[in-house]
Amino acid sequence: LPGLAGRDFLTLSDFTPDELAALLDLAAALKQEWRGGRGGEPLYGKTLAMIFEKPSTRTRVSFEVGMQQLGGRVLNLSPRELQLSRGETLADTARVLSRYVDALMVRAYSHATVEELAEAASIPVINGLTDLYHPCQIMADLLTIREHKGRLRGVTVAYVGDSNNVAHTWLLGAALLGLHLRLACPPGYEPRPEVLALAEVLARDTGATIQVLHDPVAAVRGAEVVYTDVWTSMGQEGEEEERRRTFAPYQVNARLVAHAAPDFIFMHCLPAHRGEEVTDEVLDGPHSVVLDQAENRLHAQKAILLALLA
Ligand code: CP
Ligand code: NVA
Repeated sequence: LPGLAGRDFLTLSDFTPDELAALLDLAAALKQEWRGGRGGEPLYGKTLAMIFEKPSTRTRVSFEVGMQQLGGRVLNLSPRELQLSRGETLADTARVLSRYVDALMVRAYSHATVEELAEAASIPVINGLTDLYHPCQIMADLLTIREHKGRLRGVTVAYVGDSNNVAHTWLLGAALLGLHLRLACPPGYEPRPEVLALAEVLARDTGATIQVLHDPVAAVRGAEVVYTDVWTSMGQEGEEEERRRTFAPYQVNARLVAHAAPDFIFMHCLPAHRGEEVTDEVLDGPHSVVLDQAENRLHAQKAILLALLA
């Protein structure tokens, strides 16, 4: 894809709507190829290094398998085993890794960590989740919505729950691709004002609308997509009990989704805390597309790897 080679993938707002749409088209094409048991090895000889400061199932496995399917290799670097743990700077680490590998995927606490690595690295740096954003997830989500709803523009998405990394990325993704996002959260748990402001600016060019509400029923009413994520994200374990109480009225259960469009789809980035943000009935129910979403991490990320590395 012209214009994408060599770039970082840190946040969706670094890309134009056309670039994101082209990435989704490429992901869909790679998925077709994979289904047909075909596919060359366009990244033969390339190495992706991965650093995880936090646990991961989907991101770790889909990047590793995706890179293998494209003919490349993966190097898993535990931050505890790197000299980072003894005080080597992020910038020095990035400069050195740039001499050995072709791209770096990082899951970090602070978003500044991936920005600092990207600033110093001469290779593409991919954000595999920070406390602020989770762009690879929302690319897979958009691919999933396109498959199930046949379009993105004008689709109504109700995000119910915490204004976390997934929600912040959803604000930008919806704004860039012209969806209608209604986010319902408890008072005091609203999105960061600077991210909301950025989403509102981006939405002006695409016809997207963004609403932040406190009433989950108002958010879900007539929605084509109902989305939730955990109430306590990685790193917030100390707030778990308080959050469980505060978010209880925001549980996605049969009573809440009864207000959605009759053919709504239910989405969750996973891992789910069953019985908290979502009931088994909804998560395992006929409207749930959570496993398509998880699979699409593979296809969306192969598109990202190919576009940045080819
Ligand atoms: N959705 C997601 O990023 O899952 P993991 O934490 O398992 O990678
Ligand atoms: N918001 C969650 C997403 C996990 C994929 C977290 O950060 O823990």
